Amino acid sequence: MASYTLSINGKQYEADVAGDTPLLWYLRDHLGLVGTKYGCGIAQCGACTVHVNGAAARSCTLPVSSLTKAKITTIEGLSEKGDHPVQQAWDEVDVAQCGYCQAGQIMTAAALLQKNPHPSETEIANTMHANICRCGAYHRIREAVKLASNKL
Ligand code: FES
Ligand code: FES
Repeated sequence: MASYTLSINGKQYEADVAGDTPLLWYLRDHLGLVGTKYGCGIAQCGACTVHVNGAAARSCTLPVSSLTKAKITTIEGLSEKGDHPVQQAWDEVDVAQCGYCQAGQIMTAAALLQKNPHPSETEIANTMHANICRCGAYHRIREAVKLASNKL
């Protein structure tokens, strides 16, 4: 085992774990940042999406050892008061059903709008389609991304 210095939500952490430990488990089991969810564990569902250097990334398949120079943001660090434009739009549209996929959806949407503040409907659909929602809230997810983009 070795120690890895990680920057998460603006703080530095010494991760004393095996290098191949997925970031998801370090976040949840060691730091208690349980907003990031486990869905499939094989980078297929998006429930575990965080930002790595501002881009959406699937933390279930990211080994801690690969992240020592990265700036990681989780849903807990997206905004101080839960008032990121995407979070506000989510609230306004009342997107969530069970909520399980939602942190991953919001992180994917926030990364999209950071890169492309005014995406077309096709760009929104193409980006969001890889985040699975077992409740089928896809229409409201896309509506909320559009609403957030209109507020930027
Ligand atoms: S849990 Fe990571 S993509 Fe599904
Ligand atoms: S809201 Fe239930 S899985 Fe998406």
